[in-house]
Amino acid sequence: MRAFRDAGADIVGVGSALIGLTTDEMGEYFRTLERDMAQGSNVAEQMIRYDVDMQFRPVILVSNERVTDDICILTFDRKVDLQAGEFVFLWIPGLGEKPFSALADDPFSLAVIDVGLFTHELMSLQPGTEAYVRGPHGTPVAPPAGAKIITVSGGTGLAAVYQLARDFPNSEIFTGARTAERLYFLDECRKIAPVHVSTDDGSEGFHGFVTELLREYLQQLLPAERKNLIFYNCGPSPMVRAAVAVEREFCGDDQIFSAIDYLTKCGVGLCGACAAPDGRRICVDGPFMDGASVV
Ligand SMILES: Cc1cc2nc3c(=O)[nH]c(=O)nc-3n(C[C@H](O)[C@H](O)[C@H](O)COP(=O)(O)OP(=O)(O)OC[C@H]3O[C@@H](n4cnc5c(N)ncnc54)[C@H](O)[C@@H]3O)c2cc1C
Ligand code: FES
Repeated sequence: MRAFRDAGADIVGVGSALIGLTTDEMGEYFRTLERDMAQGSNVAEQMIRYDVDMQFRPVILVSNERVTDDICILTFDRKVDLQAGEFVFLWIPGLGEKPFSALADDPFSLAVIDVGLFTHELMSLQPGTEAYVRGPHGTPVAPPAGAKIITVSGGTGLAAVYQLARDFPNSEIFTGARTAERLYFLDECRKIAPVHVSTDDGSEGFHGFVTELLREYLQQLLPAERKNLIFYNCGPSPMVRAAVAVEREFCGDDQIFSAIDYLTKCGVGLCGACAAPDGRRICVDGPFMDGASVV
């Protein structure tokens, strides 16, 4: 019984040790732990992250702007320290907590699409409401210096890539929607980068899917220019998969990063709910992960 209890404690200990570690870091942790056990050393302990912040911090809603029939932009009263590519959990007492990319860090804002109970409540959240934010979580994006960044987004995927295009100067934004009425935040985007717009019905910009617009753009680039591209895709999964397929026609997998909203619960790598088909967990290895992991 005692041995059983100790084994349980070890498992809990190892579980806590893995909070916030990416899959690569976790592999390295276990290899080091094995060496420690063989040599009687304790090097693995230095790899444990004691800095993962699980605190919720209050934010107050300043404005709630409905930008399409089912998308709103929530702007809060303060800055939340976030790097491009990271995400947060928003907690509304009595309603629960859900993961969101930040549209921007200062002031902290979210673009939310109405898909269920939580997001529906956000559509009518009143200015003055106190909400709580946990995070940031995930791994910030880190494109190579000098790379040209191409972001491809649909729906609220724009939230995940706006700050990225803002923070990396050599960026271009591709964004698509079914109709012109479903486009939003374009003026803000145009202030930070060239914007390429498509609508399925041709009511604004290129007539067709954003992926077709992207193909036309890539076709006219020289091979050397294509080699210097890094793609960040975010939006509905069919759009992301189509974008990856087009990008692969011209570029390598190592140039393609995509974020897909796998179910995300703990946000710190413990529960496994957010595992991609290849086993990586988007909450610590992503949300942006290389192309091969999402197709
Ligand atoms: C890293 C990340 C960033 C995100 N960024 C945004 C964003 O900027 N804007 C936005 O509108 N949405 C974003 N989402 C998705 C958002 O979390 C879900 O739309 C939301 O949780 C739905 O909750 P609900 O109660 O309204 O709907 P529910 O009725 O609970 O579910 C509706 C659908 O939403 C998805 N969903 C539900 N819960 C989760 C969850 N915990 N994690 C992921 N997907 C879930 C499922 O596909 C489900 O079928 C993001 C998700 C992740 C993982
Ligand atoms: S491991 Fe729990 S949400 Fe990613």
